[in-house]
Amino acid sequence: MGRIRVLPDQVANKIAAGEVVERPASVVKELLENSLDAGATRFRVEVEAGGRRLIRISDDGSGMLRDDALLAFERHATSKLRDVKDLVSIATLGFRGEALPSIASVSRLLLETHSPEEATGARVEIAGGKMLRCEEAALPPGTVITVRDLFFNVPARRKFLRSEQTELAHIASLVTHYSLAHPEKTFELLSPAGDLLRVTPVDTLRERVYQVFGARVLDELIDLGVSQKELLLPHDPESGDPPSSVFRLRGFLSRPQVQKSNRNSIFIFVNGRLIRDRLLLHSISAAYHNLIPPASFPFALLFLDCDAGEVDVNVHPSKVEVRFRHQNFVHDFVRDAIRERLIESRPAPAFTASASPQSAAALPYSEFSQMIENQAAAGERLSTPPAPQDPGPLPEFALRHAPAPAPRLDFGGSQIRIGLDSGPQPLHARLRVPETHGDFPPEAISSAAGSLTALGDLRPLGQIHESFIIAAGRDGLWIIDQHVAHERILFEKVLKQQAAGRLEVQHLLMPVILQLTAEQQIVYARLADELGHSGFETEPFGNRTIAVKAAPAAVAQADLEKILFEILETAEGEQRGLSLDDLRRNIAATIACRAAIKINMRLDQQKMEWLLQALAATDCPMSCPHGRPIALQYPTREILKAFHRI
Ligand SMILES: Nc1ncnc2c1ncn2[C@@H]1O[C@H](COP(=O)(O)OP(=O)(O)O)[C@@H](O)[C@H]1O
Ligand SMILES: [Mg+2]
Repeated sequence: MGRIRVLPDQVANKIAAGEVVERPASVVKELLENSLDAGATRFRVEVEAGGRRLIRISDDGSGMLRDDALLAFERHATSKLRDVKDLVSIATLGFRGEALPSIASVSRLLLETHSPEEATGARVEIAGGKMLRCEEAALPPGTVITVRDLFFNVPARRKFLRSEQTELAHIASLVTHYSLAHPEKTFELLSPAGDLLRVTPVDTLRERVYQVFGARVLDELIDLGVSQKELLLPHDPESGDPPSSVFRLRGFLSRPQVQKSNRNSIFIFVNGRLIRDRLLLHSISAAYHNLIPPASFPFALLFLDCDAGEVDVNVHPSKVEVRFRHQNFVHDFVRDAIRERLIESRPAPAFTASASPQSAAALPYSEFSQMIENQAAAGERLSTPPAPQDPGPLPEFALRHAPAPAPRLDFGGSQIRIGLDSGPQPLHARLRVPETHGDFPPEAISSAAGSLTALGDLRPLGQIHESFIIAAGRDGLWIIDQHVAHERILFEKVLKQQAAGRLEVQHLLMPVILQLTAEQQIVYARLADELGHSGFETEPFGNRTIAVKAAPAAVAQADLEKILFEILETAEGEQRGLSLDDLRRNIAATIACRAAIKINMRLDQQKMEWLLQALAATDCPMSCPHGRPIALQYPTREILKAFHRI
């Protein structure tokens, strides 16, 4: 007799549960997705003890027929897929038919459901995968699923759970973000300590963002509007495929001044599914390139919609990863849509509430985490840092400046973390969100900070500290950091000249001789061509010595040596795989930083005017290449308020 056996379903389900149900938030995710697939418009999520003791999700969706209520717990039982062909065009969130049997195999589950197509509903009770009860019952339409004692029969998994607060935070993050994906629906998240989220239907994403995060956070964000791009497909009359496919991107992004130390504040939905995707994460980083420092990340809430055939959702058991059919197209579309919007809106930070990166980073740390913290005060420490995890090999388009992987918790295989640990915090749901049917104050929303397009009309009044230009504009008072402003002007100028291969160069009367260390010599050998391209004419001059014969016109001769050493040093410090593009940007940034006017320098009226005009003409006047803000605005409205005139 052979030794191979087919595992009984009960064992197979428990194995599947290992992938599908990683933590309480994964249960919430699967059940919420089922409710969404069932066309529900009201979702109530109740949790106790971070979801370990209880998770109950009630919906007003289609409900299940009595026979289906039993069948739903069979392995691979689904109403959403019939055929292999359907796999390429999945319009529902679920399709694997694994969630219910998996969850039921590692908890005590009660399903109560009633489809209006039948007179009565069904009640099914299962514990650890064993059917305990199945009966007809008089129930209201819709479905209620109660999951108690998660992992009661899987002690190993129980040990891996984090504190109740952390698990609750994961659940809160999840429900919050699904509520953002469906502004027209009602979501409630209740815990014994109080309501964590309660949002009623609104018309727009913007209003939902306001409901969830409040006016202050909304002010920090840029509305992406709707960007759309059509992909022409190779003509194939046989396939019956459409000749083209349209991609749409909507959402909200933070201004460059809001900087996060990790990617945990980036939420991406593809066709309504919350996913983690390296390709899109990279698009976002690329869009913020040169606007924020290399190792920091924005807040982003993005919704990408496309034909179901353009994206393979069947690549991960908990469906948090996807694969795009036309990766490059998607990558560039998302990057360019974001970048264009960032550049177009030229958001100026208002210097009243949120000018400094610190306050911006602290800003989302809202009442929610405060409450969690209070709850935790009695019990265990909140901030058990989770073990760092290897994010796995990055694909070829990987972030070059990617920082060492930050410690993070995993949620269903994805890397969504709600920050109760340390460092800048991602946005949280606000506690007891106001019921906003009619009292949505448009004013609070339209008072977003001004646009840097106004820079060109500013009238400089003078300097503070011989470092910051004060200027009057139609929309308020402005303060401009003269050094970073000039740095941005020069940076873009050098970049443009590099691209055109026409750098203004000055030939030196006497070559400048530089003595290099052995390491610098190696880096120099690698960079020599590129230095030439960027206006530095150099040649080897004996042992570990180079002669500089010409330099970019912007560079003062006195700074030449420092600049060259700095370029060599940065290139040495950077990872090997620095692209040509990155290298050029580095060189441009170094030249710009060194050649820019310094702080503590008096400027006459004409110079100040020139600086503001030139800044207004740049593509990205909002932040220097290192992400520091350039100009702060004190809106007239705030001034009026401060003087009690409104
Ligand atoms: N809240 C619900 N309302 C109506 N039907 C549901 C609900 N939850 C689950 N179902 C039914 O149970 C089936 C199995 O669910 P699940 O195991 O999550 O698999 P999948 O979602 O992949 O189909 C679904 O296909 C659906 O028909
Ligand atoms: Mg499902």
